[in-house]
Amino acid sequence: MTAIAPLTTRGAWKSLEAHYATVRPLHLRTLFADDPTRGERMRAEAVGIYFDYSKHRITDETLTLLLQLAEESGLRGRIDAMFRGDKVNVTEKRAALHVALRAPKGHSIIVDGEDVVPQVHAVLEKMAVFSSLVRRGEWRGYTGKAIRNVINIGIGGSDLGPVMAYEALRHYSQRDLTFRFVSNIDGTDFAEATRNLDAEETLFIVSSKTFTTLETMTNARTARDWALTTLKQPAAIAKHFVAVSTNAEEVAKFGIDPANMFEFWDWVGGRYSMDSAIGLSTMIAIGPDQFHAMLDGFHQMDEHFRLAPFERNLPVLMGLLALWYNNFFDAQTVAVLPYEQYLKRFPAYLQQLTMESNGKHVTLQGTEVAYQTGPIYWGEPGTNGQHSFYQLIHQGTKLIPCDFIAFTQPLNPLGRHHDLLLANVFAQAEALGFGKMSQEVQAAGTPSWLVPHRIFEGNRPSSMLLLERLTPATLGTLVALYEHSVFVQGAIWNIDSFDQWGVELGKVLAERIIPELESESESALKHDSSTNCLIRRYRKCKDHST
Ligand code: F6P
Repeated sequence: MTAIAPLTTRGAWKSLEAHYATVRPLHLRTLFADDPTRGERMRAEAVGIYFDYSKHRITDETLTLLLQLAEESGLRGRIDAMFRGDKVNVTEKRAALHVALRAPKGHSIIVDGEDVVPQVHAVLEKMAVFSSLVRRGEWRGYTGKAIRNVINIGIGGSDLGPVMAYEALRHYSQRDLTFRFVSNIDGTDFAEATRNLDAEETLFIVSSKTFTTLETMTNARTARDWALTTLKQPAAIAKHFVAVSTNAEEVAKFGIDPANMFEFWDWVGGRYSMDSAIGLSTMIAIGPDQFHAMLDGFHQMDEHFRLAPFERNLPVLMGLLALWYNNFFDAQTVAVLPYEQYLKRFPAYLQQLTMESNGKHVTLQGTEVAYQTGPIYWGEPGTNGQHSFYQLIHQGTKLIPCDFIAFTQPLNPLGRHHDLLLANVFAQAEALGFGKMSQEVQAAGTPSWLVPHRIFEGNRPSSMLLLERLTPATLGTLVALYEHSVFVQGAIWNIDSFDQWGVELGKVLAERIIPELESESESALKHDSSTNCLIRRYRKCKDHST
């Protein structure tokens, strides 16, 4: 890796610091009034996404400097390294090759001397065969009944992608199959997911990259017990359990037939895995052809990211804008607001993608960063959010850049619904950007004491991502857009966007506390006084009947 100047010493960074002082007081009203073509100029279109970034607190010079920062940060080289299969995940000494998961047949990407693309397609083929059997009712349970219910057991990337994709693509799903998802170690999750289901008609997909994750393995064992309560014979497991994992040994130990294991590889990060075999439930739901359409959507965005000049490159522009607010305006969060009910789990999915990737405090070289890294991503679908938290975005004291996502064509056309939905998303972006000034509030006859409360100062930035229709392909392009935008930010911050050491400590401490909660004897506790008291309190009050 070539040495790169620390971020805050790069020329473009210093210029941006000075430039920020001139941009901060500018209002979007003025920027638009001074340039009537701004809305036409500050937009980019690629792979079916119309990206309007004109309602951002930027000038042409801001963009020039941000693009210069990308160049000075070696972004081009970092992109090439990722696509080439270099070990860009330096702390785990691994490639981050989710782009290989959607590389078409015939492409070639070499990892440790081996072309991984044929391996990817072999697994896709195996998934297609299995999915088609389940979809046609030909994968029979142990007692001969067809599978009607599919339950994915997994957590983090082995859950959020599958749930999000299932919800997003439900319109395309085979409706006579029921899909449920169990992730939480809270027994309620399992109990509710299996309520009213017939074990004879239920298939569990145990999804875990490592096949050692406490939550997933606990839920998988509970699932096995639940299934055997009805099916009785251990031989039934082969018909009702399949696994998705990189760890064949642990899968076999659990008792799942290796023939029923769908493989992926250590160069696929959990949060980048929804288009690997981790997407098995998605493929069963929408079918192999639509799954391939989704992969093609991902791939189109990959190619755009790899090849488009930075000034027209959607992930680059999105990443740079996120960095502009995060590092210069000190914005703490980004709101993702899809105006599409099927995308209701998209913000939750993005939380892992963005925050597990860029929630880092040291550079690739291990030195403490001298700047803010990953912002908090959050959101809910519109219009619901408008009646909940938008108040704070409009009139609160915090600056929250928003990503609005909308589609011109509804999947469920119903009277005026879609016009009303789209009117709302456009109105929100307009209201946030331009607000309502004191004179306008007064002119409407508002009593003077009420005027301050009714002023919208505006100047609240947003992106608008407008697509034609939510399809498997457009979902793929959207997810890849965010994946690569996260990469752009991480590359400039010079952090490892592909590891997640921060989740380890809690796991280790939980392993230590488990026997302390379950032991009958009053063993000595060696935690801090607060944790000791909590453990004692739980021991005293817990329900000993279970
Ligand atoms: O604890 C975090 C994490 O490692 C995520 O990165 C990952 O997606 C999740 O746990 C699940 O891991 P696995 O697929 O190995 O069960």
